[in-house]
Amino acid sequence: MQKYRIITYGCQMNLHESEKIAGILEYLGYAQTENTEEADIVVFNTCCIRDNAEKHALGNIGALKKWKMRHPSAIIAVVGCMTQQDGAGNGLREKFPFVDIVLGTNNLYRLEDAIRQARENRVKQVLIDPDPNPPIREHERVARSKRPNAWLNIMYGCNNFCTYCIVPHVRGRERSRKTADILQEFRTLLDQGYPEITLLGQNVNSYGHDLDDGSNFAHLLEQIARIPGKFRVRFMSSHPKDLNRDVIDIIASSPNLCNSIHLPIQSGSNRILEKMNRRYTREAYLDIIDAIRAKIPDCGITTDLMVGFPYEEERDFEDTLDIVRRVGFSAAFTFIYSVRRGTPAAQMPQVDPQVAKDRIMRLIAEQNRMTKAASKTYEGKTLEVLCEDIVPKRPGMVCGRSDTGRLVTFEGIPEWIGTFVPVTIQRSQSASLFGIRKEN
Ligand code: 5AD
Ligand code: SF4
Repeated sequence: MQKYRIITYGCQMNLHESEKIAGILEYLGYAQTENTEEADIVVFNTCCIRDNAEKHALGNIGALKKWKMRHPSAIIAVVGCMTQQDGAGNGLREKFPFVDIVLGTNNLYRLEDAIRQARENRVKQVLIDPDPNPPIREHERVARSKRPNAWLNIMYGCNNFCTYCIVPHVRGRERSRKTADILQEFRTLLDQGYPEITLLGQNVNSYGHDLDDGSNFAHLLEQIARIPGKFRVRFMSSHPKDLNRDVIDIIASSPNLCNSIHLPIQSGSNRILEKMNRRYTREAYLDIIDAIRAKIPDCGITTDLMVGFPYEEERDFEDTLDIVRRVGFSAAFTFIYSVRRGTPAAQMPQVDPQVAKDRIMRLIAEQNRMTKAASKTYEGKTLEVLCEDIVPKRPGMVCGRSDTGRLVTFEGIPEWIGTFVPVTIQRSQSASLFGIRKEN
């Protein structure tokens, strides 16, 4: 049997798309391997959100040149966001003549045909040009990579054009799936035994705006919450300008919707938020946080933060530190701004890289202090944890997440994976909680 290996970079959207790629490859008769040496096809599912993601992928693709010489009949495919950038497809083909297939994230549905072409050696290199407005595919083949969590796309693309971001340029405009199709996939996943489902979209709060049938995100959540049974729903990402009170209310009133919201703020400075084209102010953001806390007191709120964006001065950065202290995020993903060719921010005056490095260290230190303090508040409490995995380096231990998104490690057996376990927290260490199963 022929084998495939997929190497994935980037976000959860990409991880899920790799499951779709795996679905196509398994349909074509390939079996999965984690070992490149025994692979007959290697797929790089790339990301271009920041320079380091791109460099990482480019380095690893380049490293396969010798492998390809040893395995001339094997196929190398480069897919995903990196290939959707302007002119990137041709650039990749020229830089890596040993790559067989280059295909954009919006063209995944053409992978099967591209592989057939490559196998039959009809053309030396298959390049499929990015499709700016691809149709939504239903009933895709998905070879899911992990249990008990499943991902479910509710929409694709983004209309926001934050000035730093490449995503709208590579993933195109917002395209929502029909509510009925989402509900059908959701029910199928429950039938297949997935107790936790994460709804995916670049900006889930604008779900349905492009459909003419009145559907919206709060309404979708409401219909999902009405499905009988014990399960958990998470979603990401939300945009602060679009997260409305209806969504907060439905989360507050539905036990199956996790008390956990990822709400990227990026910066705490109004001046910088405006230059980023985020279309909200720090005050508006804090109002949403207050509204969430009023309705869902224990809600775990996480965020994305960026430092070193053009024009950022010390006082702007201090506004970001101030937001971190005020909100008390349970965790934050922190990034140094990375110039993306073709985006408006690339033309703006750039911040000294050393200054940006210094700021990210200070930001991480501040957030770590907050995370530690938030973790401490869990000590002594009993949380319902969805057991997700064993801890490989610690025999006899298992781990999972609380409703609020906290990682919890406790003594347990592999048979518990996929079940909900009450765990009393005994101690905390930075973002992690450690506990013991509560006996009934
Ligand atoms: N540089 C650094 N971080 C970025 N992000 C998006 N674009 C860039 C960029 N050019 C971050 C944002 C976003 C997260 C997914 O990635 O914080 O929320
Ligand atoms: Fe990028 Fe902004 Fe869209 Fe998020 S909302 S994908 S940061 S443009």
